[in-house]
Parts: sequence; structure tokens; C-alpha cells
Amino acid sequence: MRSNSLYFAAYMPTSHSSIPILAALKGIRSACPPLWFMRQAGRYLPEYRKLRKQAPDFLSFCLTPELAIEATLQPIRRFGFDAAILFSDILVVPHALGAKVEFSEGHGPVLEPIRARTALKKLRVQGIDARLAPVYAAIAGLKQKLDPATALIGFAGAPWTVAAYMIEGSGGTNFPVARTWMFREPKLFAALMDTLVDATIIHLTRQIEHGADVVQLFDSWAGILNETQFRACVIRPTRRIVQRLKKRFPDVPIIGFPRGAGPLYREYAKETGVDGLGLDTAVPLDWARKTLQPLCTLQGNLDNYLLVAGGDALDRDIRRILNVLGNRPFIFNLGHGILPGTPIRHVQRAIDIVRRRARA
Ligand code: CP3
Repeated sequence: MRSNSLYFAAYMPTSHSSIPILAALKGIRSACPPLWFMRQAGRYLPEYRKLRKQAPDFLSFCLTPELAIEATLQPIRRFGFDAAILFSDILVVPHALGAKVEFSEGHGPVLEPIRARTALKKLRVQGIDARLAPVYAAIAGLKQKLDPATALIGFAGAPWTVAAYMIEGSGGTNFPVARTWMFREPKLFAALMDTLVDATIIHLTRQIEHGADVVQLFDSWAGILNETQFRACVIRPTRRIVQRLKKRFPDVPIIGFPRGAGPLYREYAKETGVDGLGLDTAVPLDWARKTLQPLCTLQGNLDNYLLVAGGDALDRDIRRILNVLGNRPFIFNLGHGILPGTPIRHVQRAIDIVRRRARA
């Protein structure tokens, strides 16, 4: 037994093979691939919309353990997914660093832009875990409530994706300010990235200590970088985070999701040391099978818009994914998060097809 498990009772390595997601991440194939969906909690569920009214704003919702626990459990009760992903957000980290973060209804996140040395100097890594204590309390509470076969996934935004929101001051799809500023102010940008690497290591470490079985790094905006920047801002910081976590928690699998990485998925898989690779919807599956699947466990990549539309095309694509990737260790998932307008019956249908195939 590891010495730190005496101190943190929640961190006790369990038998991986009895938990389907962990087995897949350790390289064990199962006839029925385990499944969970990114953004499986949230606005497409009526019970979430009702619960959401109990907090004045989204950030307070995330930082109230009872609400975060309940939102995490809702999709598990309804669908019996193989993993529960902690209900939180990647932007709790900038909030804990001291940058102002707000979620305005209908507009997405609005942040205090970090583009000057003075703003950067105000960010405080020390003590972020105290400020994020409600997140860890939610994890500890979830660990007690979840069936042991359901893996609990903790997560953080990867440094580049979080930096993009912090520099831009808002969400979007193009991040024009962030993508110019990173070239104009390389020293300040490097300092921000270092701050985020340190903050991410602390945040994920605490999540594991409190009971997360797996952690996922969301690099949702990895695909907007050029090749050089992809190496510097996606691969290198991810490798630093993975190395630090693996040193302390060698048995806790890490899933990387460098959305939009294209051919650089291969280098990401080889260089970062992640155990699992989240594939976005654009990745050609035969290429993934040949090039990526020998390197690590794959997860993905059903089109989230197809899940909204449903019909025969949905059924066919699920079967295609299972046929191409299901012969080796694999985790069924979407290529990006469930969209708010997704009909619940389509989610159920997708789950039924994945699980029925296993029995056939
Ligand atoms: O079920 C789960 O997956 C767990 C919860 C979760 C949320 N956000 C809840 C949420 C997770 C894992 C995230 C990650 C996240 N947050 C990412 C990475 C994944 C991705 O989708 O690319 C990013 C980029 C964010 C930042 C963020 N949070 C944005 C851009 C927005 C606004 C857009 C939107 O979808 O409304 C959020 C808000 C947010 N995070 C909501 C939820 C359920 C909606 C707010 C609400 O319910 O009031």
C-alpha cells in the first residue's frame, strides 16, 4: 500500500479489471466496450434544468457540493453509464487563481482578460486547492454514493485551452486575441502557461486524492494551433502534467482530449504519456485504428450532432465505430460534448445499440 493512502483514505488502488473503464484504459478489451458521454450531465436533462434553479449562478452551482454531486449522479441513474464525470467546469481554475469568471445566460463564459503583467501577477497558485475545496468535497461524496464498478472521472482543462479563455476574456471558436497575443508577448504567455501547468497539477492531484479513479484533460481548442505551437502549448505542458501525476499516482489512468489535433494526434499519443486518447468527430477511423490504437486506448468519436438528429444514420455510425475500433481496448463516447437540444431517447438508443451488440 502506498504511504499516502494512509493519509488519504479515498486513494486506494482498486482491482482494475472489475471496473470496465479502468480495464479498458489498462489495455484489456471487453466484448462490450464501456461507455460514457462527454457533457453527459447538463441542460438536455429536465432534472438538471430543475436542479440548476437552486443556485443563483453557474459557478456557485459548481462550487456547492450537494448540487455538483446530484448533477453528476443524474445521468448515471437515468442511463447507467460506466463512468460518472464530476460535475464542474474547466473555468473553476481561473476563478480559483483569482481571475474574475462569470457565466452569463446565453453568452457563455466571460472572464477578466489576462494580457498584462499586472493582471498576470495577481494570479495566485498557492491556495487554489483551498479555494476549490468544494470540488474535492463533491468527489469524496460521490465516491461514497457511486457503485464501485462505475468509475469516477475527474478533469481539468489543459493549459492551452484554459489560457485561451483567460487571454480572450470570453469563449468562441476562433480566439483571435489569444492567438495573436501569444506571439506578441511570448514571455508573458509562457508565464501564464507555467502558472496553469502548476495549477492543473494541484487540481488533478487533489481530485485523485479525494477519489477520482481516472482524470481527463480537455484541450478543446488544441486544433486551432499551428504545428510549432501545438508542440509547445499542447504536447509539452501535457507531458509535464502527466509526468508529475504518474510519479505520484502510477496506477491512475489519464485520458487526453486534444480536440482537432488531426495528424498530430499520433505525436500527442507518443509523447505525452496519456493512457487514453479522446478522438474528435473528424478523425478518420481506419487511420486511428492503424496509427493510434497500437499506442493507447481510444475513446470517442460519435458525432454529437448526429446524436441530436437520430435516425438510421445514427444507428449506422455507432455500428461503424464499434466495428472499426471495438476489436481492441476501446471506450465508446462522443467526439465532443452532448448538445443542449439532444433528445433523451437518442441518448438511450445509442446506449442500447452499444450494449446490445455485446450480447449479440
Ligand atoms: O457532464 C459533464 O461532462 C461534466 C460537466 C462539464 C461542464 N463543462 C459543465 C457545464 C465539463 C466536463 C465541462 C468542461 C468544459 N467547460 C469544457 C471542455 C469540454 C468542451 O465542451 O469542449 C469547456 C471548453 C468549458 C467552458 C464552458 N463552460 C463553456 C464554453 C460554457 C458555455 C457554453 C455552454 O455549453 O453553455 C460552459 C458552461 C457549462 N459547463 C454548462 C455546463 C452544464 C452550461 C451552463 C449551465 O448549465 O447553466
